[in-house]
Amino acid sequence: MTAWQVEPSHQWPQFDVDLTDVSITADRYLSAEFFASEWEGMWTKVWLLMGRAAQMPEPGDYQAEEIGPESVIMVRQQSGEIRSFYNVCQHRGSRLTFAEEGSVSRFVCPYHSWEYETDGSLVKVQDVEDFAEDPCATKRLVEIRTEVFAGFVWINMNPEAETLQEFLGPLWNEWAAYEPDDWPRVTALTARVDCNWKIIQDNFCESYHLPSVHPQLMESHEESYRYSDFQMSQQGHNRMIMPGATPSITQYGESPPLPEVLQERLRRWDLDPADFVDDPLAARRAIQQQMRALGPERGHAHYDNLHDLQLTDSHHYNLFPNCSVTFAADGVLLQRMRPHATDPQKCLFDHWYYGFTPASEKGVLDVATNIRIDGAGGPGGEVEHEVFDFGDRSMGLIPDQDLSIATGQQLGMRSRGFTEPVLAGQEDRVAWFHKKIDITINQAKSNRASKNNRAIRSEN
Ligand code: FES
Ligand SMILES: [Fe+2]
Repeated sequence: MTAWQVEPSHQWPQFDVDLTDVSITADRYLSAEFFASEWEGMWTKVWLLMGRAAQMPEPGDYQAEEIGPESVIMVRQQSGEIRSFYNVCQHRGSRLTFAEEGSVSRFVCPYHSWEYETDGSLVKVQDVEDFAEDPCATKRLVEIRTEVFAGFVWINMNPEAETLQEFLGPLWNEWAAYEPDDWPRVTALTARVDCNWKIIQDNFCESYHLPSVHPQLMESHEESYRYSDFQMSQQGHNRMIMPGATPSITQYGESPPLPEVLQERLRRWDLDPADFVDDPLAARRAIQQQMRALGPERGHAHYDNLHDLQLTDSHHYNLFPNCSVTFAADGVLLQRMRPHATDPQKCLFDHWYYGFTPASEKGVLDVATNIRIDGAGGPGGEVEHEVFDFGDRSMGLIPDQDLSIATGQQLGMRSRGFTEPVLAGQEDRVAWFHKKIDITINQAKSNRASKNNRAIRSEN
């Protein structure tokens, strides 16, 4: 077993799926019809990662988040729990709030001032005597199923869906181990991008593009994992472990140099880089042992929950359907693709980073290099959310590299000269992602059909 192979104890349950029948035609990225079937059969049926509980610390604090044509209000209750509602007034359908976040004692509709408590109940109606019956007796905001896990707020528009834990499958325990619930947000960027949301998730589902699109990553990450060392789950999620603290043998051969990023990491854990010049491949194990020994006393109590591989290696997850989540020992990078309200060829791309910093230190660790970014956040150091058109400002080297490819690929999807992709074995996750979308949509269709049949039978 080579240094970067995953021990059986850290493997996911075996999952085999036939991917020979997957067809990823260009219309999936272009057509209004497919876009509508995704909304009806998928987005409204699965758990969606939407907000962050720590950003709503007090009762009345809320976040309003858009996805496709919907806007969802998530709001902290007096009881401490978070509940979610469609952001729509029950009088004549105005949006209730256009703010991205805020704090209210009541939501007051901007149109005719109907007032709702944060638990969704309608409590005040202008000229109430003018209504045949008091709307407060029958109307309230329409609630959406909500759960909080790993500090994120998840919603599901399907009242009959499985639990979030069932939906997350093998991700549940692995994410919980980092105890990321209170990690503050230290990067919050959202770009409007001219491509279908799946183009970007496709990209996150394969590492075939790493040597060409992100050549700089090979300095600090071994890259041979990209051929096979990923796992897929029946829930539609994938995991790929990117060994960190390891110079690339593929790049440098069996005697690689000790890159500067690795030297810095060694020093941070009181190890002398000079001791590893002759055997740089020993650095990763030594860092794991040192993190295990020194981490808790330096304030990283959660290291005790983590597998050795979680200490040094980026755990990159494709969360079905629309997130790419990369955990490092002290940080999580969340990249989320949200469909546009009406246009299949546009999406929103969120690039958010949450980083843990012990109280005694400043700055957070970059997820790719694991180097401390001084001045970025720190405990309680929340950053402002910025929204812009892709290209107007940099989002960081890696997302800039990925998104420039994505917009170019969308242009290619429109060409009469392209029919469908030819996938390598290492692109299996792309095929599984699309197959899982189809399975989800077809399941929703058959559920609708059997419901209709039951309704017809009960009428007869
Ligand atoms: S639409 Fe909200 S009060 Fe009239
Ligand atoms: Fe990439």
